[in-house]
Amino acid sequence: MVGDEADSRNPYESFEDNPYRSSVNIFTNESVLKEDWQPEKLPEREAELDEIRNALAPATRGVNAHNLFLYGKTGQGKTVAIDHELALLQDYAASQDTLDLSVIKTSANNQTTSYQLCAHLIKEIRDSRKKPSGIDQQSMFDLLYEEISDLEETVIIVIDEIDAIGSNDELLYELPRARKNNYIEDQWVSVIGISNNLQFRDNLSPKVKDSLYDSEIEFAPYNAEKLTSILERRAERAFVDGVLDDDVIPLCSAFAAQDEGSARQAIRLLYKSGELALNYGDDIVSETHVREARDILERKRIEEGMRSLTTQDQFALLSVVALEIDGETPARTRQVYQKYKSIVDRLDGNQLVERRVRDHLQSLGMQGFLLAETRNTGIQGGSHYRFELKTDLEATLDILSEDTRIDDVVSDLTEIATAKELT
Ligand SMILES: Nc1ncnc2c1ncn2[C@@H]1O[C@H](COP(=O)(O)OP(=O)(O)O)[C@@H](O)[C@H]1O
Ligand SMILES: [Mg+2]
Repeated sequence: MVGDEADSRNPYESFEDNPYRSSVNIFTNESVLKEDWQPEKLPEREAELDEIRNALAPATRGVNAHNLFLYGKTGQGKTVAIDHELALLQDYAASQDTLDLSVIKTSANNQTTSYQLCAHLIKEIRDSRKKPSGIDQQSMFDLLYEEISDLEETVIIVIDEIDAIGSNDELLYELPRARKNNYIEDQWVSVIGISNNLQFRDNLSPKVKDSLYDSEIEFAPYNAEKLTSILERRAERAFVDGVLDDDVIPLCSAFAAQDEGSARQAIRLLYKSGELALNYGDDIVSETHVREARDILERKRIEEGMRSLTTQDQFALLSVVALEIDGETPARTRQVYQKYKSIVDRLDGNQLVERRVRDHLQSLGMQGFLLAETRNTGIQGGSHYRFELKTDLEATLDILSEDTRIDDVVSDLTEIATAKELT
């Protein structure tokens, strides 16, 4: 009986044939390669950690911590650095009677105004599922101050991805001054803003800059050497001894360094390379796996990003793609705009003015689809942008062709590109 039951559940002759069974051992602790794994040490960010510590230290002396603004491209260890320092500060607070600390950590992701961000913060502090709504902005701010008044004496509010709120930034002005303005009596409030968008910092209103930036810390892109040391620490725990070919880590680092210097990207690449080796039943992870992993991840990155583009982003991108096929890139905004107008015309779309199209082009640059370089124009002292496609042309056309709003134009472009043997 028992035997029959086991047989009916296992269609394979024996356990050896079970397709989940792998013939090779690649990982010892795969979780170390996951996104949310928390490293204990960040030696590559020693200087930045010091600065953060100096900014937070006043909290241990009974006054408010400095407001802080961290900025740098994605994958530079900003979030992990703040988590690391705040964990140390919370440990310290727990061991001392002199520091009563509340840390509120949140992401402004999807909160596009001060009002929304404020409602979101209230929700986080209350630990509730619903955001308050239906009141005017000042009442919403007041509600936040009320919530803060119930917290410990020292309050540190971390707002990650703060750039989501764009120029609608009053809250960032009000919050650090809440005590000075007597909205809050017993708490010391400080704000830590984190931004992946370098332009966000420049575009903030001057009063917010004054109010928010006691200290700002730049997280410059990691170079290949630093990425290598980050990967080596991970690899030591994650992989079976000796399964990584010598050139695997340097190659992962070099690829990531050439791109944006992102540790996140480097770690993903290493993980994917290991997974490919495992899936193929190869007992060594080699350069070939890294190269294939890079192609797969690159393709995925483009796909994800492109699928969420707005129609106007798509028009702007298509214009650059068309110029690329014409061999006319890098192209100036004016040139791209001419193309844009003809494409919008053909697709019967809503035509924006040149300045707005340039904003879309810059945003495509930020998202990694375009290379946007600034050139000085010389005697007039002005500067202008030049755009070109950064992603693979064939893959880009392929993904854009999935969208029925624009597929006519895309298929024409694909035809020309194929005729020119560009794809
Ligand atoms: N110096 C470092 N040492 C170890 N891991 C790091 C380091 N810097 C970044 N990481 C890892 O890289 C990934 C991205 O870091 P994260 O802090 O999320 O970047 P950011 O917030 O700048 O986008 C995370 O998995 C993080 O643990
Ligand atoms: Mg982050």
